[in-house]
Amino acid sequence: MLKTDILIVGSGISGLFFAMKTAKKRPDLSIVIMTKETAQNTNTQLAQGGIAVVTDVVKDSFEQHIRDTLQSGDGLCEREIVEMVVKQAPERLKELVEIGTSFDQNEKGEWNLGLEGGHSQHRILHHKDSSGLEIEKKLLKIIRGFPNIKLLENHMVIDLCTETKNDKPICTGAFFYNKKHNTIKYIRTRTIVLCTGGCGQLFAHTTNPKIATGDGIALAARAGATIVDMQYIQFHPTALASGGKNPMFLISEAVRGYGAHIVNEEGKRFLFKYDARAELATRDVVSNAINKELQSSSKKHVFLDCRHLDKNSFYQQFPVITSHCNELGIKPEKDLIPIVPAAHYQCGGIKVDKNGVTAIQNLYAIGECARTGLHGKNRLASNSLLEALVFAHQASENVGRTIARFTFTSTILIPKFPKIHYPNDYNAFDILKKELQQLMTNFYTSEHRNFDLASEEIKKLNSHAISFTERHEITIPFIEFSNMLTAALLIIMQCKLETKEMCES
Ligand code: SIN
Repeated sequence: MLKTDILIVGSGISGLFFAMKTAKKRPDLSIVIMTKETAQNTNTQLAQGGIAVVTDVVKDSFEQHIRDTLQSGDGLCEREIVEMVVKQAPERLKELVEIGTSFDQNEKGEWNLGLEGGHSQHRILHHKDSSGLEIEKKLLKIIRGFPNIKLLENHMVIDLCTETKNDKPICTGAFFYNKKHNTIKYIRTRTIVLCTGGCGQLFAHTTNPKIATGDGIALAARAGATIVDMQYIQFHPTALASGGKNPMFLISEAVRGYGAHIVNEEGKRFLFKYDARAELATRDVVSNAINKELQSSSKKHVFLDCRHLDKNSFYQQFPVITSHCNELGIKPEKDLIPIVPAAHYQCGGIKVDKNGVTAIQNLYAIGECARTGLHGKNRLASNSLLEALVFAHQASENVGRTIARFTFTSTILIPKFPKIHYPNDYNAFDILKKELQQLMTNFYTSEHRNFDLASEEIKKLNSHAISFTERHEITIPFIEFSNMLTAALLIIMQCKLETKEMCES
């Protein structure tokens, strides 16, 4: 049996920042990071936009950032959490910069601040259009230098183990699958931190990588944690509509902040009909407007128009986006870029307090898998990397204060896990995944959602999945697909609950 003081599941910004801070402050604690693929294969590395932080204290203020966040969240943000995150932002940014993370500056050496939808001021720090990748690389480099951190790639956590003490559940370990050795093992821990990202892969159109299968949500739900607000899936308005790719390539919100327009087939801007802020309205508003326009025109996509922008500075500011477009034969200086809304961010998730603590003792959740109260119904652009930093800090401080309470003394019986069966059912599960993605897309985008039918379809998919696992052996595609089904069912159930509450009020 393996043992570690802290097990972190996931290697995006929240897991790595938490690990770095904790390892620095508490060299006496052993930390294991498990990630189901390679360490860099995360949602974080795909983040183009950047981090929203109030740094220009002349034009901007905490109050304005707080107000923008609350407005975007449409009445469901928790003010105390919003204030904490916004006010901590400069300190957390400083820590990122101290480890060498570079953000763009102007010729005077000031931050080159971007503007994005829903923000009343320029306040987005960015590294060209690959901010997430820059952060991920710098954090990974630091992490690899700590003697008390072990980073295990290709290790997938299958289930969390809990015990009951004083009638309360406590998380004490996890089963994990080592892909290289094809074995399932148990790890005993004093703290588990879920940093597993979101569930964008539940949908046919998504900007999220293949790994975003709602694993943390499913692990936490099976262990008995509280999951809320899963009905609020954010669709990013400007995913590149090119040949059914999964994931879809993102055209950053920063491009609209830079002055690009959204136009229809006739080259006409139409967003003013829906919101006076037009391209700079929040994502929910822009995505809904595009969807309405597509429904009424029966077209497959609308367009991003960058033709009026200065070519040189546009190419300089967005090198990844422009080179990707060029590779596809799209020249943004003369062509319209086809775009559609795509599932991008899970605003709800595992309910946590201001320290990232879940309803289960010793179990934390940070980043997209957590529901902190910051985002409400609709996350403000570039608030997610910030949330990850602030909650990683909060959780790290809390672990430092409380971990001494938990020892390894209790004894447990380790159940024998069934033999792994790997990997001959990948194709079968790819087909089932596509069915699930279509089902969830139809359900989520329908004006008249049929909750019961959708739940029935999920149950059928579950039966198919079980029938693929011969002799009840566990398979990795089965585990991942089961996690997706759990997350899907939570979305459907929570959509149903919201509709019921709205009808009753
Ligand atoms: C973007 O660059 O548009 C994505 C950043 C975010 O999701 O906040």
